[in-house]
Amino acid sequence: MQNPCVSELLLSSFTLIGLFIPVLGDGGFCSAPSILDQTDASSKPLYWKATNPTLSPSHLQDLPGFTRSVYKRDHALISPESHVFSPLPDWTNTLGAYLISPAMGSHFVMYLAKMQENSRSGLPPDDVERFVFVIQGIVTLTNSSGISDKLMVDSYAYLPPNFEHSLKCDGSATLAVFERRHAYLGNHITELIVGSTDEQPLIETPGEVFELRKLLPASMPYDFNIHIMDFQPGEFLNVKEVHYNQHGLLLLEGQGIYRLGDSWYPVQAGDAIWMAPFVPQWYGALGKTRTRYLLYKDVNRNPL
Ligand SMILES: *[C@@H]1O[C@H](CO)[C@@H](O)[C@H](O)[C@H]1NC(C)=O
Repeated sequence: MQNPCVSELLLSSFTLIGLFIPVLGDGGFCSAPSILDQTDASSKPLYWKATNPTLSPSHLQDLPGFTRSVYKRDHALISPESHVFSPLPDWTNTLGAYLISPAMGSHFVMYLAKMQENSRSGLPPDDVERFVFVIQGIVTLTNSSGISDKLMVDSYAYLPPNFEHSLKCDGSATLAVFERRHAYLGNHITELIVGSTDEQPLIETPGEVFELRKLLPASMPYDFNIHIMDFQPGEFLNVKEVHYNQHGLLLLEGQGIYRLGDSWYPVQAGDAIWMAPFVPQWYGALGKTRTRYLLYKDVNRNPL
C-alpha cells in the first residue's frame, strides 16, 4: 500500500516546479502514529502495571517459544509471561510464583504471593526472616497476641525469624515476599517492623540523581535491606556498580534498559531480576512515567 504522506509530498513538490521544497497539504502532517497511549496509567491504582504488565506486542504473543526471560550464571530476567503460579506450601488459598531461589545461586527467595478470598499465610521455616510488600489489595497482619495491622498497597512488614504471625486476606491481594535464613550476629536481634514507603525519608545519594528510600533500619541487626529506587525518564545510574552484595529486584512502575554483565535488556513494570555478586549492573529509565523498583540487598555481614 502506498503511503498517502509520500504521494502528497510528491504532488506538492511538483506544483513548485522543481524547487523541491516539501510543502504539506491542508492538515497534512506526516507524523508517526501517536505513542502517547499510556494516558490511562495515572488513573489506575498505584503499582497497577506491576500486576497488569504489558505483555509482548501482539505480533509476538503467539510466536512459539518467544519470551524476554533470560537465565544466566550471574543474572536472570524473569518477565511476566514466564511466571508460573502454584499453591504455596503452608498457605491457604494462595498461589505463589518463586522468581528467585537458591537454585539460581541466591541466598534468599523472592516470590509473588497471590492471596485469594479467605486466604492465610503459612510461617517460614525456622530461623527464616520474612519481608512482605503489598502490591495490590489489603492484607491483615496479626501477631500471636491477636493484635492486627492493616497493610495497604505500598505498605510492608518485616517479620523477624521465628516470629509467629499470620497474614489474612478477605478479597484478593498480591504480595512481593523476600525470605532468607537470618545470619545472626552476636547479641543483635531484629524487631517487627510495619511501615509504608511514603513515610520513609529520602536518603542522600552523592553523585546520583535517583531517589532512594530504605524500608528497613540500616543498623547491624539487619542482614538485608529493601531499597525503593525512583528514576524519572532519562535518569540513569551514574556508578556502573560491581559489588559483593546480591540483589533481587522487582520493577513496580515504568520502563527502561537494564545492563547485566554484557547484556542490555529492555525491562518494564512486572519484571523481576536476579543479580549475583559482582555482576556489572546499570539502569537507565526511559518512557513517559517514573520508574520505581524494589531492591533486596544483603548488608552488614562479613562475606566470609
Ligand atoms: C503483638 O502486638 C502488640 C502491639 O504492638 C504488642 O503489644 C504485643 O506484645 C505483640 N505480641 C507479640 C507476641 O509479639
